[in-house]
Amino acid sequence: MKCELSSSCHTFVAVEKFPTSQQLICDMFKLRRLTTLASTIKYIFLVPVFLFSTASFAQDGKAIFTANCASCHALDKKLTGPALRGVEDRWSGDRARIHAWVHNPPGFMKTDPYTESLHKEYGIVMTAFPTLADKDIDAILDYVKSAPLPGGGPKDINPVEEDNSDMTLLFGVITLILAIVAFTLLYVNANLKKMADDKEGMPAVEPIAFWRNKTYITVFTLVIFLIGGYLITEGAVGLGRQQKYEPKQPIFFSHKVHPGVNQINCQYCHIGVYQGKQATIPSVNICMNCHMAINEYKGTTKLITAEGREVNGTAEIQKLYKYAGYEPGKPWDASKAQPIEWVRIHNLPDHVYFNHAQHVNAGKVQCQTCHGEVTKYNEMFQFAPLSMGWCLNCHRTTKVQFDNNGFYSMYEKYKEDIKNHRMDSVVVKDIGGAECQKCHY
Ligand code: HEC
Ligand code: HEC
Ligand code: HEC
Ligand code: HEC
Ligand code: HEC
Ligand code: HEC
Repeated sequence: MKCELSSSCHTFVAVEKFPTSQQLICDMFKLRRLTTLASTIKYIFLVPVFLFSTASFAQDGKAIFTANCASCHALDKKLTGPALRGVEDRWSGDRARIHAWVHNPPGFMKTDPYTESLHKEYGIVMTAFPTLADKDIDAILDYVKSAPLPGGGPKDINPVEEDNSDMTLLFGVITLILAIVAFTLLYVNANLKKMADDKEGMPAVEPIAFWRNKTYITVFTLVIFLIGGYLITEGAVGLGRQQKYEPKQPIFFSHKVHPGVNQINCQYCHIGVYQGKQATIPSVNICMNCHMAINEYKGTTKLITAEGREVNGTAEIQKLYKYAGYEPGKPWDASKAQPIEWVRIHNLPDHVYFNHAQHVNAGKVQCQTCHGEVTKYNEMFQFAPLSMGWCLNCHRTTKVQFDNNGFYSMYEKYKEDIKNHRMDSVVVKDIGGAECQKCHY
């Protein structure tokens, strides 16, 4: 009989003398070829590699989306702008029109009744992104199309960040299934080998218990070492990070009421933000500029804590008066004021240098990009992860705004290159935004 594997089966010749067992042995070799450890490992690694490689494209889009669009758009929830899932269907899949829209919303709207009607509904005109490349917009659209549906609960403030966990679970399950398959195959393999040896009349080697088998011990130690090492590093890197941190504050101070409903400029209170490194937290004096007159809360915006309890605004203003040492109707002596002990929410480690003026003034980055829709928060919380990856992702994708920007007169060469079409655009990384010493003392 013919076995198509005979060339690779060096023991095949030996069994030629026993024709009846030839087919059996041949089948066994076919099986064994499949079940060798090497090929099993290959399959285990190939599947996740394939999944990662398809995911990585959408990851880029996600980063660009997070940096530019997430302050106004979520995938499944109306924020300042519409939920973006399914947006291509609403635009009949016409990406060229979407590019035109993103580059210049006010101009596009003039000729397009659909976006004009969106504008009526949302009340504000979307920010223009004149320098965002078409391929970046495509990457965003690909991400929007492929992003998994969120499974998060009601506190799902930033669904963009959520879908990592879905992937982790998926990979975890796949790895587990593959591990079980690998073990079963190894077991089958061992048994078949034993059967083959029996058939050949070779003396069976006394099997070594698996806990004394050197290969198993090595693999096991290696796996424990890798997983342990990964978890320890992850844990250490995450020390001190506190995304979504939302502490109780001494006074229930609502950003929804102040910069939101009453449209008080951020800079009125955070006076340092356009000039200095720190945004600064307002002193009691700044509060009292207005609250000498405003001693009651009559607003219609409900003041709700994270636990869902309703707060009495007038009582909170009374707390402010306690700190200020002010009694309504009497003249106020500002020197009696006690500082309010606000709990600090955002806190980078000491080895990192971050400057607000550089970002909001020179870089023209909106507060909302890093702090979220502040004007909708009753209680302030940390919107961004403040990790190094978060800083760098934005520096890699955000274009430097050269136009009408005195801060960049020193970069004449770049301006020339853009004008002469030698370069498309310059991102923050190109002007040194990824150099270690720019962010680390
Ligand atoms: C300042 C807030 C803001 C930012 C930032 C923003 N958008 Fe918008 N977007 C809106 C608003 C508001 C609308 C609704 C139309 C209007 O009123 O201008 C909209 C509408 C859209 C639409 C049409 C939606 C639909 O349902 O048909 C698309 C597509 C879109 N935006 C894409 C983007 C992309 C891509 C980015 C990031 C590069 C982005 N937007 C950034 C506010 C924003
Ligand atoms: C009327 C004064 C006032 C205005 C206007 C105001 N804030 Fe605040 N902000 C505060 C006070 C007081 C705190 C500290 C209490 C808290 O965290 O809620 C604070 C805290 C913050 C924090 C967190 C600080 C920390 O501890 O890390 C951020 C971020 C912030 N504000 C952003 C903004 C932005 C963005 C705007 C404009 C859209 C704005 N604020 C407008 C008074 C104001
Ligand atoms: C530019 C004016 C202005 C400044 C500055 C200001 N407030 Fe207010 N505050 C208001 C207005 C307007 C209301 C809403 C009153 C109403 O709707 O009846 C309000 C409401 C409040 C309320 C009740 C609603 C809530 O948010 O809980 C509290 C408490 C309060 N302010 C505390 C403060 C504190 C503390 C500061 C200083 C960090 C401050 N305010 C600074 C104008 C101001
Ligand atoms: C590029 C991202 C980014 C932008 C844009 C940004 N912030 Fe911040 N903000 C941060 C980071 C990071 C911290 C933490 C700084 C630290 O711990 O030293 C912070 C901290 C703060 C704090 C508390 C600590 C402090 O610096 O006094 C306030 C208040 C604040 N930001 C307000 C604002 C306001 C208002 C704007 C818009 C005018 C704004 N931020 C724009 C990233 C940003
Ligand atoms: C949303 C986008 C964004 C995020 C997030 C961001 N940056 Fe930036 N960053 C910019 C832009 C835009 C500039 C360009 C401004 C300029 O040229 O001065 C910049 C410039 C800088 C520079 C000056 C670089 C140079 O070459 O002069 C430093 C330092 C810096 N960022 C630190 C940080 C740190 C630290 C973080 C994270 C805590 C951070 N940035 C997060 C957008 C961002
Ligand atoms: C755009 C700003 C930025 C640049 C550029 C940057 N870092 Fe960081 N780095 C950070 C921030 C922010 C943190 C704090 C992260 C945290 O608290 O988890 C950090 C943390 C670290 C840490 C502590 C470990 C950790 O993740 O917390 C090390 C080590 C580090 N950076 C090394 C580097 C080296 C090396 C380079 C140059 C290749 C570099 N950084 C460039 C912003 C930056």
